[in-house]
Amino acid sequence: MKFRTTITDLQKRNQQGKKIVMVTAYDATFARIVEEAGVDVMLVGDSLGMVVQGKENTLSVTMEEMLYHTTMVASAAKKSLVIADMPFLSYQGDIDDAIKNAGRLLQCGATAVKLEGSLGILDRISAMVEFGIPVMAHLGMTPQSVHQLGGYRVQAKLQSEVDRLVDDVKALESAGVFAVVLEAIPADAAEQVTAAVAIPTIGIGAGPACDGQVLVLYDLLGLFDGFVPKFVKQYAQLKAESIKALREFKRDVEDGKFPSGSESYD
Ligand code: KIV
Repeated sequence: MKFRTTITDLQKRNQQGKKIVMVTAYDATFARIVEEAGVDVMLVGDSLGMVVQGKENTLSVTMEEMLYHTTMVASAAKKSLVIADMPFLSYQGDIDDAIKNAGRLLQCGATAVKLEGSLGILDRISAMVEFGIPVMAHLGMTPQSVHQLGGYRVQAKLQSEVDRLVDDVKALESAGVFAVVLEAIPADAAEQVTAAVAIPTIGIGAGPACDGQVLVLYDLLGLFDGFVPKFVKQYAQLKAESIKALREFKRDVEDGKFPSGSESYD
């Protein structure tokens, strides 16, 4: 029997130079599919605000919603490591609230939490780690700061910004995070960050030098085509496939071809 992937397993993979594979999941059915494909890490991302709830950004996702989706994913995932995003305003305020919210996500079955930011939340990260809550950081283009960043724009284009990013990731590493997601930064910037720290870097739109890669499941499967960023590779066209299947179902019903005898009880 294979036990659930642990943070230590991830660290070992990284030390052995093996890439870490992470994909988002929001419900039990997809969690089972992702796990059967052998993916190391499932992220219950607050991107669910956009791809599941149809919102413009991730800001309105609540703690209760994250707990609900984390429970579904963690109940279905038996082997993959499950990481839950801490939603906007669940860790930016009071330190006690931040720890309690992170702990609630672990009580729902997550092994770790992910949060966006660096210096402004170092005290919360240290406290979580101190209390046994593994933390993954998220820097570069941080979607919860979309308004401050003026949109979903590539970050760290200037060397001075890359230097600051390297310093931030070093500070996060010292505070105890076990990995960092780097989103939408130039490949060279991600390479510099990756070389500067021992913790694994997981890229999304951050080039090939990262220690692992993450994609939003609905992007990867071609289910969500509202906006397809440059860094997305669609490995399937499930939206088109789904529409085709549904049109066929509609035609069959309208033509009286469904249900046939084999789909009916005697
Ligand atoms: O919410 C999310 O899906 C994420 C990934 C884009 C890394 O944070």
